[in-house]
Amino acid sequence: MSIIIAGAGLAGLSAAITLAQAGRKCILVSAQPSERAQSVLAEGGINAALDNMGENDSVQEHYEDTVKGGVYIANRRAVKGLTDNAPKTVMWLSSLGVPFNRENGRLLQRPFGGQKKRRTAFAKSSTGKMIMTSLIDKARSFESEGLIKRYPHHEFLRLINDNGICKGMRIKDRISGKCASMYGTVLLACGGMNGMFPGHTTGTVHNTGDAAAAVFMQGAAFSSLEMIQYHPTTIGIPGKRCLVTEAARGEGGRLFVKRDNEPWYFMEEKYPVLKNLMPRDVVAREMFFARRETGSEVMLDMTGIPHKVWCERLPDLKKELMSYTGLDPEKEPINVHEGIHYFMGGILTNEHHRTSIENLYAAGEFTSLYHGANRLGGNSMLGAVYGGITAAEDILSLPQSSECEVVFEDAPSDEPYYEESRARFNDALCEILLDGMGIVRNEQQLDKALSALEELTPENDREKARVMLARASLMSAAERKESRGAHYREDYPQTDDEYKKLSVARTDGGRVHISFIDADKEDICR
Ligand code: FUM
Repeated sequence: MSIIIAGAGLAGLSAAITLAQAGRKCILVSAQPSERAQSVLAEGGINAALDNMGENDSVQEHYEDTVKGGVYIANRRAVKGLTDNAPKTVMWLSSLGVPFNRENGRLLQRPFGGQKKRRTAFAKSSTGKMIMTSLIDKARSFESEGLIKRYPHHEFLRLINDNGICKGMRIKDRISGKCASMYGTVLLACGGMNGMFPGHTTGTVHNTGDAAAAVFMQGAAFSSLEMIQYHPTTIGIPGKRCLVTEAARGEGGRLFVKRDNEPWYFMEEKYPVLKNLMPRDVVAREMFFARRETGSEVMLDMTGIPHKVWCERLPDLKKELMSYTGLDPEKEPINVHEGIHYFMGGILTNEHHRTSIENLYAAGEFTSLYHGANRLGGNSMLGAVYGGITAAEDILSLPQSSECEVVFEDAPSDEPYYEESRARFNDALCEILLDGMGIVRNEQQLDKALSALEELTPENDREKARVMLARASLMSAAERKESRGAHYREDYPQTDDEYKKLSVARTDGGRVHISFIDADKEDICR
């Protein structure tokens, strides 16, 4: 049996490199080459309590900020592993050649949302691209040694399960149209469900959500599907939302709306300690309310950021903003809006990244492990890299067996490609999800969205699976009758200890079942 990784972004590459470093071979399958993975778009940085800024930071404080930021429903054993190992993880990346910004040889760290200490290591404003470049280089060197075999334009179709045990997966070559079965231990690292929100997300719609929908239909348990992160600062560009990194606020950017013709710095007035750097769920919600109260658009004023900081720490952001808006952010404020950025929910895993299906692992944004009800900025790349490493280390503990031979079938298959799923259908599904699961939700909206789902007419298995995942997300939101993190119910505005639990969704193929479990439960996937 081989080790097969689906997804070649941060989590998939980190897992493949970890396996290769231990001398184990693996197969790396991805619909797009690594250079086009979502991870390349990550901008602001990666968190680790390196304590390089003379602020007496500690892994314990990183742990506490993460648990609090996730409003107490992240798996604490997993978060402990994540935050304890963050310094080692970032130094490993540095050893691979990531050009982190430095001063006197030490990695610089910038302030990021929901954290009192400067803890976010960065490579200007293209941290994801820089980390990915180093990981791709490393993976290529293992590829040349025959330890990693890449299938870089191959879609995951579904698992091959036998009696509830994962035996491998089916893939389709996007060029020849031919399919193959691969047998072995599977690690899914296919990213978030951005493709279900075309035009409304900062992420790539090539992360279609289809892998998640397929394994959901095959019986895997998913959790926290109601927890969708809206990044506070994005701008609309053709076909998507473009991220204005949180680093812009970390380096001094200020949010305001016009009230009685005067700028109202609502975050600074309401949250005098963390101000514009409150956790993202809070900032996004306050922007929504400020706009509703004043009727004016929210502006991000970055004119106070020193020119040297723009040059040394945010050059790509400036270039991007100038080319998309035609405005110079050093000279005038930019209109920003919340946009869908990250899925805290995903397949349920334990702290070793095992799922509810035996022999199936998952890592990166595909899982729901580390972030609870709201992810802190800078913990995403950390969770992906550390998660990939942790999953690979657990896989290394499994008995080693022989490799599988991958044989593509002769005739192209009639499995539909993602693009064959109808754009009109996708847009309709997206509108329903947005109507039900906006920044502010209520029972009426959620019921209406669930009824609208019934009116959709999916035409193939892919579309049916997406509808089922959408239903599970809306039902998770409907069943959580409280407000917590990214899930804000105006009909239940308080956080309620009764729901200090994870929502878990499962389907038997026909109906969706939602339950709530203790996030720290031992053997959480059983
Ligand atoms: O704002 C940002 O740079 C995003 C970072 C993240 O999502 O971790």
